[in-house]
Amino acid sequence: MSAFKYEIHKDGIAVLTFDLPGERVNKLTTAVMDELDQVLEELAANHGIRALVIRSGKPDIFIAGADIAEIRDITDANKGEELSRKGQSVMSKIEALPFPAVAAIHGPCLGGGLELALACSHRVISNDPRTALGQPEVKIGIIPGFGGTQRLPRLVGLANSLEMILPGKSVHAKKAKKIGLADEVTYKETLLDVALQAAHQAIGKPRPTGIRAKEPFLIRLLESNPLTRTLVYRTARKGVLNETRGNYPAPLAALEAVRYGLSHGLSAGYEHEARTLGGLIVSEVSKNLINVFYLNEALKKDFSPPQFSVTRASVIGAGIMGGGIAQLFAEKSITVRIRDINAKAVSAGLKAAADIFRKRSKKGILDPLQARDGMDRITGTTDASGFSAADLAVEAVVENMEVKKAVLRDFEHVAKDSAIFASNTSSLSITELAAAAKRPEQVVGMHFFNPVEKMPLVEVVKGQRTSPGTIAAIATLSRRLGKLPVVVNDGPGFLVNRILMPYLGEALTMLEAGSRIEEIDHALLRFGMPMGAFILLDEIGFDIAHKVSSILHAGLGERIQPSPLLETLYKEGFYGKKNGKGFYLYLHGTRGGASPLVNNRIQKRKDNAGWLPEQEIVERAVFLMIKEAALCLEDKIVDRVDHLDAALIFGIGFPPFRGGLMRYAEKLGAKYIVERLEFYAAKYGERFAPPTFLFEMSRDDLIGQIIR
Ligand code: NAI
Repeated sequence: MSAFKYEIHKDGIAVLTFDLPGERVNKLTTAVMDELDQVLEELAANHGIRALVIRSGKPDIFIAGADIAEIRDITDANKGEELSRKGQSVMSKIEALPFPAVAAIHGPCLGGGLELALACSHRVISNDPRTALGQPEVKIGIIPGFGGTQRLPRLVGLANSLEMILPGKSVHAKKAKKIGLADEVTYKETLLDVALQAAHQAIGKPRPTGIRAKEPFLIRLLESNPLTRTLVYRTARKGVLNETRGNYPAPLAALEAVRYGLSHGLSAGYEHEARTLGGLIVSEVSKNLINVFYLNEALKKDFSPPQFSVTRASVIGAGIMGGGIAQLFAEKSITVRIRDINAKAVSAGLKAAADIFRKRSKKGILDPLQARDGMDRITGTTDASGFSAADLAVEAVVENMEVKKAVLRDFEHVAKDSAIFASNTSSLSITELAAAAKRPEQVVGMHFFNPVEKMPLVEVVKGQRTSPGTIAAIATLSRRLGKLPVVVNDGPGFLVNRILMPYLGEALTMLEAGSRIEEIDHALLRFGMPMGAFILLDEIGFDIAHKVSSILHAGLGERIQPSPLLETLYKEGFYGKKNGKGFYLYLHGTRGGASPLVNNRIQKRKDNAGWLPEQEIVERAVFLMIKEAALCLEDKIVDRVDHLDAALIFGIGFPPFRGGLMRYAEKLGAKYIVERLEFYAAKYGERFAPPTFLFEMSRDDLIGQIIR
């Protein structure tokens, strides 16, 4: 079955429709590219054709890009280079057609899809929010390889193209028009007509050339001169290094491909692009990022048919988490009532939700009307009103078992028989909470991460008596909310916090032994963590961190020790960012340098003792995570290693370029990790002692087999 069909209208305009059989999306696989190549030959040879419109046969997608599975499987740089040359050659055929070609774009137009559109002489796009044009290749560790690094800057200007290519960011209709990427914007319904009209008007005219962005004169001047362009490259490079700390090679390689092409001409540029792509496609970072892409895809897929639908929800507790959870529900068309015992907290919760709506509307994620409608779905109360109508309650009250049990009883007292009670607890036992319930099978953990609007993960926690139906309902609901659910078993700290706490605890131990706050955080940032351990502790709040580590200590024993330093600070009124007293200084919520108040109280630090090499800082913190992860697998907190890896990437931002915590462990080899743990155990104590599970893996370096 073919992916392309075309018809030629009476006026000589051909309409080529791309509709990949048996697939939800259009992808540029090798087979598709071969077929397109053929079709283009045919079209070019047809003297009856005066113009061409290329469109998609899929309802809401133009072209998603190349086939990631094919990219994943390439292990030879020459093969990667070949793929690029082939793509370039097909795109050049579009460009060389003896008549104008108009791309009619509705829905995502990404990667190779955008490169195809760039090879056309004109682009007409729909103003639908789903229409997004971008070169996201860097997100899988490669660069655009079908001519994108050469054609995009020549169409939209240097700075605009770098803004898209280096972070892999897409643009929507308004911006696309502004930067000249789209020639015309219209409604989805009129897309084909407008594209046909554009094709008609282009007949017999030369292909437009030159930069089409409406740029201020100064920018044009800056970009037209090779000398001043250096300034743009330098700024972009600095930006990339700041963002990636040198851990992601693709954005810098893309910058170089753009630069090379603009200084050496198109054909040298294509050559450079292909060679660079070949090198990157086989790199470990690219393979790791593709792994993360697949982890995400797998969690997004829902295998359970929805038997439970939520139209009304109660959110109980309007603190840091409650406001964010209520906003999320309301954005996804669920009517929400927030309840708190404190009227001021209710107002603050409503305000927090309104602020998120405002932010999202300002960013263009929601239109103002959607934001207003969303906010209209949230009401607040200090009593039990609304409980009886709710399909679901999510509690986010203080982290105290007795308070949570009382809240559960209050809810069940008036709730429908079918209603689910979900707890957002970070560490308390769902099984114990459910012991207070009339319907324990409908009690479950729904653990969001802070900030709710940003963090993609939801841990769905299965208590001993939670029913499979309840688990499926919450997993499905999480996906509807745009989150990635990982199902975990009940146990202290569940999965993510259990693994995170030893890491944070070790950072605190190193600080107490005289290392500096900034040194530790810097080392962890360079390893690739999204923020340093002390910045994270400030964000979490010392009260919560202290509480969670105490719960883990009680549940898991000696290897998890609550930090005496954290306890003292907390008792002295240090709560972290929320009250401006943390490991760092804060002025109106903005972080400054490390706090001298904290640094000065550490005697060893005053004596200038305790300096540690970066490798040790990273190994002590990260290897304790690996150890705890191995124990979580042994305890069956999670049954799949890929879910464990996904949970840490999407829950705490474990560096995606490393592919996952256990994938990283696999690369180092269990043998090495066990040796280092033994070394640190001899030096610093039993908390480093390698667990049996890891030890067994190390014997024959079986970690890879166990992970797969
Ligand atoms: P918070 O202290 O900001 O808010 C708790 C709210 O619950 C307060 O407004 C309080 O007035 C209210 N409350 C207390 N008793 C209540 C009752 N009986 N009925 C109704 N409302 C009541 O706490 P936060 O940080 O929002 O945490 C809430 C829950 O979410 C905790 O279980 C925590 O472990 C969990 N969590 C917190 C995260 C964080 O980073 N802050 C992350 C993930 C989970």
